[in-house]
Amino acid sequence: MERTLILLKPDALQRGLAGSILTRFENKGLKIVGLKLMKITPELAAQHYEAHKERPFYKGLVRFMTSAPVVAIALEGISAIAIARKMMGATFGSDADPGTIRGDFGVSRSFNLIHGSDSPEAAQRELSLFFAEGTLDYQLDAFRWIYDPEDEL
Ligand code: RTP
Ligand code: MG
Repeated sequence: MERTLILLKPDALQRGLAGSILTRFENKGLKIVGLKLMKITPELAAQHYEAHKERPFYKGLVRFMTSAPVVAIALEGISAIAIARKMMGATFGSDADPGTIRGDFGVSRSFNLIHGSDSPEAAQRELSLFFAEGTLDYQLDAFRWIYDPEDEL
């Protein structure tokens, strides 16, 4: 099992899409192990997007991510990181395939609705930034029907 960090960016909340996006992950069979509405501080945004510090879009990205509340979500599942990235679609809404979150809900390069960790190392780092208090361990009964208990669990 893997855990990944998802952020529903300020545009997702302001456009009333948070529920629709979360529903997609629930429908897919990913387990919610952390969920919170929060305002990202400039310090947290800087830590989160540290890798992009030298990029021309960095300042605008931090301004956007701190401009209004986000929803931070921790999801668990087998290959949860890659599955969530696939469901998000390409970075820019204009390039993202229909059927993906970015492809179905947006057209923008920077207002692209969602963030998802892109590797196990990033997931671990980002989960500890956004869920410093930890995520939750509990039994999701539906897992018995989402995965084959004799083969996959
Ligand atoms: P994210 O980190 O937010 O999940 O998105 P990503 O992996 O698909 O894309 P990444 O390359 O990590 O870029 C981080 C965020 O920066 C903004 N961006 N703007 N205007 C531009 O050329 C540009 N390039 C990237 C996007 O908001 C992207 O999600
Ligand atoms: Mg990224």
